[in-house]
Amino acid sequence: MTPSPADRIIIALDVPTKEEGIALVGRLADARTFKVGLELFTAEGPALFRKLKALRKDIFLDLKLHDIPNTVAGAVRSAHRHGVQMMTLHTSGGREMMAKAAEAAKAAADAGTGPKPILLGVTVLTSLKGSDLEEVGMGSDVASQVLRLAGLAKAAGLDGVVCSPQEIEVLRKEYGRELAIVTPGIRPAWAAAQDQKRIMTPAEAVAKGADYLVIGRPITGAPSPNEAFLRIVEELDQSRP
Ligand code: C5P
Repeated sequence: MTPSPADRIIIALDVPTKEEGIALVGRLADARTFKVGLELFTAEGPALFRKLKALRKDIFLDLKLHDIPNTVAGAVRSAHRHGVQMMTLHTSGGREMMAKAAEAAKAAADAGTGPKPILLGVTVLTSLKGSDLEEVGMGSDVASQVLRLAGLAKAAGLDGVVCSPQEIEVLRKEYGRELAIVTPGIRPAWAAAQDQKRIMTPAEAVAKGADYLVIGRPITGAPSPNEAFLRIVEELDQSRP
């Protein structure tokens, strides 16, 4: 099912404390999904999830899991118990790790304790270039490694992948609509690029095939975060075919 423009936007809660996170959520009345990453989760743990749930928000847990299959499956079950809707794992953890995670997500949902968590595979971190991949023995061709790992994620039963805006089209072409695509590196035309180098506007990314957009500073750093959020929703609405 195609998400509505508002549901496509995932707000990056890149803050160090629960208080700052919750204050930000409070300033984003119309946003639904918030990304909690390593910094905030390490600081606050699942106590933060209770707060987000109480505010009726959805949680994208971005911990990029990478461990033995049994351990990752256990983390998926734990996240589900805490009401996490979406979470990330490293596709380089291998087929069995991803398949066990997918099984755990399905079993958790079948038990009737909430919707199945959406599992998203991380392929090659955008901080790595060809020579870095070579150093860890993964060959030097980033693009073909991304395609290969996305294909493995699909075969293992993951729901989608996280990729940079530049990779959306090729992944769509290769794997159709079956893999959900989540992309950061999004900048509306009216926002500053900051440290993001290869950026795309929200409408461009959706036109190329992105399902969800992870957006941080253009929204969280705006004088009124909710207004910035609604401005992007409107742009997405207007660019709908
Ligand atoms: O503030 P900004 O919109 O740049 O935030 C984007 C979010 O997406 C941050 O949480 C960042 O860590 C994450 N991200 C990214 N680029 C990647 C992967 C994740 O910007 N390649």
